[in-house]
Amino acid sequence: MVFRRTHNCGELRISDVNNSVVLNGWIDSIRNIGKIIFIDLRDRYGITQIVVEKEELVRKAKELRNESVVSIKGLVRKREGNPNKRILTGEIEVVADEINIYSIAEPTPFVIQNDVRATEELRLKYRYLDIRRESIRDKLMLRHKAAFETRRFLNENNFVEVETPFLTKSTPEGARDFLVPSRLNKGKVYALPQSPQLFKQLLMVSGMDKYFQIVRCFRDEDLRLDRQPEFTQIDIEMSFVNQDDVMELTEDLLRHIFRSCVNYEIKEFVRISYKEAIDKYGSDKPDLRFGLKMCDITEIIRKMTGKIKMFDEAIREGGIIKILPIGSNMNLTRAEIERLENEIKSLGAKGLARFRVDSEVDWTLASWTKEIPEEVKKEIISKANIEKGSVVFVQFGDSKLVNNVLSFVRNAIAEKFGLKKRDEYKFVWIYDFPMFEFSEEDKRLVACHHPFTSPKEEDIGFLESEPLNVRANAYDITLNGFEIGGGSIRIHSAELQKRVFKVLGLSETEINSKFGFLIEAFKYGVPPHGGIALGFDRLIMLMSGAESIRDVIAFPKTTSGACLMTDAPSVPEEKQLLEAGIRFIEEVKHE
Ligand code: AMO
Repeated sequence: MVFRRTHNCGELRISDVNNSVVLNGWIDSIRNIGKIIFIDLRDRYGITQIVVEKEELVRKAKELRNESVVSIKGLVRKREGNPNKRILTGEIEVVADEINIYSIAEPTPFVIQNDVRATEELRLKYRYLDIRRESIRDKLMLRHKAAFETRRFLNENNFVEVETPFLTKSTPEGARDFLVPSRLNKGKVYALPQSPQLFKQLLMVSGMDKYFQIVRCFRDEDLRLDRQPEFTQIDIEMSFVNQDDVMELTEDLLRHIFRSCVNYEIKEFVRISYKEAIDKYGSDKPDLRFGLKMCDITEIIRKMTGKIKMFDEAIREGGIIKILPIGSNMNLTRAEIERLENEIKSLGAKGLARFRVDSEVDWTLASWTKEIPEEVKKEIISKANIEKGSVVFVQFGDSKLVNNVLSFVRNAIAEKFGLKKRDEYKFVWIYDFPMFEFSEEDKRLVACHHPFTSPKEEDIGFLESEPLNVRANAYDITLNGFEIGGGSIRIHSAELQKRVFKVLGLSETEINSKFGFLIEAFKYGVPPHGGIALGFDRLIMLMSGAESIRDVIAFPKTTSGACLMTDAPSVPEEKQLLEAGIRFIEEVKHE
């Protein structure tokens, strides 16, 4: 028999004293002090203290262990002694009249408590137990609230949520596709969507005008602390809009989410161009909770060619020379520098050159600085705004590597000196991204955002002649150094879309077979349109102060794409392979 609960475990207050109640829950802890047993009963709303005094109930309660599930019928009374101020029900207790035991739990693989000692592996294997912990449970509840408030806000602003297919055709977003073999069409596969990009654009052709979807996306890529193979986007598309319209809508949505979910008033959204972001911070997702600006000194150094060989070489090979001065009060020990140097070596850096500016002309720590003429030193100090006594880190060579390394150092320094304030949210828009970049892996041009992004009007003329200098109507929104969203104004002309595909190396036949349906749709009346997708998991991770994206996903995957609880992915049965018409090329040995 199930006792019908009258209250949850976080609800009873002093005003409930003398009421008869029924509580259901899990035993958080049980203390046996001879003739009396105290139970902390827990559910997702809170904890209530139960007192077992009746002799036959004490006997029954002795069978119970932590995490067992019970129902308690009893009378609320004021707690004797001091109230427990840490819990909302701390002023009362429930004196048990009846105990209904639903299930006795075996000892759990780890203790269910907030400052858990178990490894993440063990917690993921028993994720359903991990979710019993307040810290994970609260994050899932915040996630629910944020999804709810997103729907409320977008609904109030005339957006319509439309579901788009999961079994579909490849949507290029820069990752690999997860493929699903089709049993009914042997030899053919569906691709799980990397995003609903093409469908949301087609919905604009349909006249849906303002679309959104809180949607799962699938990307087969290397996983990191802020990446999962399946993740959720708040996906948005609008017709008859420009870049500012999409940005403003996004800002209003984020303001609403932060206000309603974590009671935080977002003060400002900074906007900086891609070029400025790379120039000053070496990254297209700079954390602007702190300054620490870099300075490109290639042109200054060029003027003193012949003095420092390593710089001359870098310049000759088309590289750059960049410095990152840190505050004069920021002292690093030799061991800290060595650790940092080892870390950047794993990024491909040769080492971490540095010098200290003791006075305008006295530079120490690096003997090569003696070769720099005084007027050049002065120029560098004034351009990079270096305080006396500051240590200055130097990187030279390939621009991508230099920026990567200095951006890593910038973040490490900020971390070390406590500049990343936990309760501050700094939103930064990055706009005017390049349209294309050269992929070293594929040895060809790829779209920086995706190939449906429109080039800036004034750059269209250079599409074929100087593709790497073409800027796109693309923008990212970043928060505290993480990219939390990206979008663009789209191409809405079949002819321009074909030109972009051709710059990307697609033949007419490939264009037709991969994206013919989109090009065709553009023939029948297409509005100008644009949109954005916010990474919902990343947003919740940052809002909740979680260390990893896994903490805000109920059943996440490890960095090798495995679910430790279900053991997915798993070896298929022979029959399933046969039905799907697939055979593995090589015999794979499974342990
Ligand atoms: P984009 O590829 O920039 O844009 O993705 C949008 C946002 O989704 C999040 N994100 C991820 N989160 C967790 N795990 C991942 N593997 C992962 N990959 C991406 C990021 C990112 O900013 N269709 C376009 C949007 C548009 O143009 O409207 C798109 O998907 O926070």
